[in-house]
Amino acid sequence: MNEYDSDKMKDLLSKEMDFVGTNIKEEADVLIVNTCSIREKAQEKVFSLLGKWRKLKKINPDIVIGVAGCVASQESDAISSRAPYVDMVIGPQTIHRLPKIYKESLKSKKTIVDVEFPLIEKFDNLPVVSESKFSEMVTIMEGCSKYCSYCVVPYTRGTEVSRPLDDILLEINSLVDNGAKEIILLGQNVNAYFYEDNKGNIVNFGLLLFYIARNKGIKRIRYTTSHPNNFDAQTYLAYEKLPQLVSHLHLPIQSGSDRILAAMKRGYTVLEYKSVIRKLKKARPSMTFSSDFIVGFPGETEEDFMKTIDLIKEVEFDQSYSFIYSKRPGTPAASLHDEVSDSEKKLRLKFLQETINTLSKSRSKSIVGENVEILVEGKSSKYNDMVTGRTTNNKIINIPGKDNLVGELLNIQVTELNNKSLKGEILIK
Ligand code: 5AD
Ligand code: SF4
Repeated sequence: MNEYDSDKMKDLLSKEMDFVGTNIKEEADVLIVNTCSIREKAQEKVFSLLGKWRKLKKINPDIVIGVAGCVASQESDAISSRAPYVDMVIGPQTIHRLPKIYKESLKSKKTIVDVEFPLIEKFDNLPVVSESKFSEMVTIMEGCSKYCSYCVVPYTRGTEVSRPLDDILLEINSLVDNGAKEIILLGQNVNAYFYEDNKGNIVNFGLLLFYIARNKGIKRIRYTTSHPNNFDAQTYLAYEKLPQLVSHLHLPIQSGSDRILAAMKRGYTVLEYKSVIRKLKKARPSMTFSSDFIVGFPGETEEDFMKTIDLIKEVEFDQSYSFIYSKRPGTPAASLHDEVSDSEKKLRLKFLQETINTLSKSRSKSIVGENVEILVEGKSSKYNDMVTGRTTNNKIINIPGKDNLVGELLNIQVTELNNKSLKGEILIK
């Protein structure tokens, strides 16, 4: 979501204000950092970066400095007091007001702060794309109303708000007309999508997938992130009926212990989570899964942690975003007593990540020799004269080839696994 917002801010500055991007910060007239406050470390990095930018501003006082995103939203007072040289503080829902905020900041000597949540206004005011990309992100909803006990998102991005169906479909049509083949639907809880038109017709996430798939130019549909409690019959049906929908799902579980899930206020048990996985696999037997995990949540015992490991092995998650719990001010979990040592938490995280890497490697090994379809994404970062593509199960495969293959769906044979990376050859039909 932050990448999407950053792209939109770049688009706004270039289209509406004629700015040109530069990689040399000393050359810049405007410096904006788009921020994340999900964990403390990310937040502290913002202040250390601002310290560096302050030095640039001493040399060139005309530089306009902005802080955007969730740290802006949560820490607007702290930014104004700790870093008064910051000119603009822009929340995640007001990035479309950037040109206006910029002009105001030029006139005023004070920090301009705009961290409101003006519902869906943002999307009506962002520029339309002009650059052709084979893969495009489309925000379908924003915010979160789940209030997990450890998480700042509902406070920084606001509660769940869905975009109107027609707006989404029109945006997707124009992206496809412009060359997009893959659409990635974005939102903090995409499957909480809910839209009611003026005739009282209701569109949920599953139905939205069917509407989107009507555009035959779309070869692949991905989405992130979903919540286990928002899966419904229509979404399962989509996995049965829509081959464009990829066979890989990132479905955050956070912990494999019911006790910890309850303390996290996730709203489901391990059994309920596994029931979602079972239904998805029934609809699409080739499904694979990745997940988010929080290690060392207050009160997590070795036994709780081992339940997470058992679950990982059972579901065979082959990728993860896993982090040590970070205490976030203002969240209910911040007041929980935390007796697990940092070194123990680090060991648990390492063990969890090693377990997933082993599963990932064995899955990679199992597809060597198979014929699979990949969507080519770009030049390989590892090998010269090779490009990188992704299978429907989210495996990255390098094949010989050049830039002109980017955006192509190709049938390939997987030929080898070298350390972690897979290689393949194009199959001539
Ligand atoms: N500490 C650690 N990880 C967190 N996440 C959210 N809040 C925290 C926190 N306080 C992780 C969760 C979530 C992902 C977006 O970030 O795993 O799924
Ligand atoms: Fe945060 Fe995700 Fe929970 Fe929402 S569902 S509160 S974004 S962890």
